[in-house]
Amino acid sequence: MFTLAAPAKLNLGLEILGKRPDGYHDLATIFLTVDLFDTLDFTPAPNLNVDCSRPGLTGRPNLVQDALRAARTLASTNEGAHINLHKRIPLAAGLGGASSDAAATLIGCQKLWETRFTAEQLHEAAARLGSDVPFLLSGGCAVGRGRGERLEPLRLPMDYWFVVVSPDIIIRNKTTTLFGDLGATDFTQGDCILQQIQLLVATSMLDPTLLVNAFTRPLYRRAPSLVAISAAMQTAGASNVAISGAGPTHYSVERDPERAVDIANRLRDVLGSNAQIEVVRPFPPRCPNQIVTGDTPGVSAPR
Ligand code: C5P
Repeated sequence: MFTLAAPAKLNLGLEILGKRPDGYHDLATIFLTVDLFDTLDFTPAPNLNVDCSRPGLTGRPNLVQDALRAARTLASTNEGAHINLHKRIPLAAGLGGASSDAAATLIGCQKLWETRFTAEQLHEAAARLGSDVPFLLSGGCAVGRGRGERLEPLRLPMDYWFVVVSPDIIIRNKTTTLFGDLGATDFTQGDCILQQIQLLVATSMLDPTLLVNAFTRPLYRRAPSLVAISAAMQTAGASNVAISGAGPTHYSVERDPERAVDIANRLRDVLGSNAQIEVVRPFPPRCPNQIVTGDTPGVSAPR
């Protein structure tokens, strides 16, 4: 048995440039993995099966099962795998949890079945599973273009702490629904992302005023109660408020870890069980086939 970590991601800004003939949207974003992880335990098995720590997910179709099938096709094997998935990343939150689990599954199957996929095979299989999955194969910090699968690595922003607030609101078929809600007024040229990239490359710093997100208007229209989340964050002292992916996760960017922890504690008092609140840091790219165990530094305990 071995264990792989699957980190969450934040979008440090997300601009949608327009709709494509194939139905997808061209976007510009900066992806960043952070130290909030799901973990996947891999064991050999006769069939492909997945158990999940989160009630209601075991036995339901999910991206890990799709990734297992994709990996088995790539490996041209009839071998099976059993995956025990421990969820800590909130579901459908804009943090890429399911995509990261799928990316870790592709990577883990290589070790389990003692095979090697090429970088191109991995990237293609990942892109078929979802637009965010290619980034999460290695993680770190990267510009994402196209539908999210065209990647250029960036240096990690240093000395930042993120207060991440994932409210427990549910929007059915969230990603597809919110992409469908986008209108011409939500499309931009990618200028904020470009400026943020230039700043990051020159200084490893972030400008919070450039953390725009094209889903803000449709998200708040679908879930007006989110206004209260943004307000609560500001009242708790958040220096700024941004949205990850298609939401509903909101986050703030802080330079002082004690301040970040104070903000998170205040928010826990106010929001109680209505939101999962974490303080996270940037997490570096995965070493090829990096294997971790439960007590490896950098793998956060359940919070
Ligand atoms: O690629 P993924 O499976 O995550 O996409 C889910 C849905 O989100 C797609 O079917 C599409 O409707 C929408 N989408 C999009 N443009 C993107 C990514 C996703 O329109 N760049």
